[in-house]
This record gives sequence, structure tokens and C-alpha cells, in this order.
Amino acid sequence: MRVNHVGEVCAQALYQAQALVTRDAQLRAHFEQASREETDHLAWTQERLKELGSRVSLLNPLWYAGAFGIGLVAGRIGDAVSLGFVVETERQVEQHLASHLDALPASDVRSKAIVSVMKDDEARHATNAELAGASTLPVPVRWAMRAAAKVMTTTAYYV
Ligand SMILES: [Fe+2]
Ligand SMILES: [Fe+2]
Repeated sequence: MRVNHVGEVCAQALYQAQALVTRDAQLRAHFEQASREETDHLAWTQERLKELGSRVSLLNPLWYAGAFGIGLVAGRIGDAVSLGFVVETERQVEQHLASHLDALPASDVRSKAIVSVMKDDEARHATNAELAGASTLPVPVRWAMRAAAKVMTTTAYYV
């Protein structure tokens, strides 16, 4: 759940940076709307962590800053790339949440409910970004994003 929380910290940072950089008012509204939903996810995962007697990642400011920087860069390149970045990110998060859903014990109904709603929201975020005109990112970029996500999820599990 801490890993999921870090994911939401990053999602929020990405969307906020992208909303800041785009010159397209409609797209800005799109990013801001998604960012608000990520804020909900952030609150749910944080609350669940507390209920489980755990804590959020100590490195959250670092994750936030990193994701914000990436969002700025993606946004600067152009709106289509920025949206392509959203599609890839959300699809990766959706896959991660699907595997987490499988790994959760059947008895943890509350966590399952949270992860399940988030998974559906992320899928919708990806689809919306596609419909808004996302370009497909080059394969090496997608690999790099996967590698970065792996580092993040592995670290956040412990720290
Ligand atoms: Fe989310
Ligand atoms: Fe999302």
C-alpha cells in the first residue's frame, strides 16, 4: 500500500507539472481533473496505511520532485508527448495495481476495494489521454519508464 501511495504522489506531481506547462486551456482542465482524482487516491491510500499501522514513504518529497521534473520535461516537448506519457504511466500503474490486487489476501476486503477503484480510474485516465490525442512513446522511452518505476516501487517497499 505504501508503494501505491508513492505512485499517487508521483501521479499528482506529473499532472500538476503538465497542467502548469501546457498552453492549451482545455488540456489544462483535463490534467487538473485527473490530478484531483489522484488526490482522492492519495488520501485513500494514506488512510489505509494508517489503518494498517504503517507509514508513508520517507522519500516522498524526492519522488514528488522527480515526477514533477519529468512532467515539466514531457510537457515542454509538446502536448501529444505529454499525453503519451500519461497513457504509458497510467497503463503501467494499472498493471501494477492489477498484480497487487491478485497478491492481496482475500480477507483484506478494504484494501482490495481501494485498489480496485483506483485501477479502474487509472484505466480511464489512460483512455482519456488517448482520446485527447496522445502520441505513442518510443519503445526505449517506455523501457526507461518501466526501469524507473521498478526502482521506485522496490525502494518504496522498504523506505
Ligand atoms: Fe491514481
Ligand atoms: Fe491516474
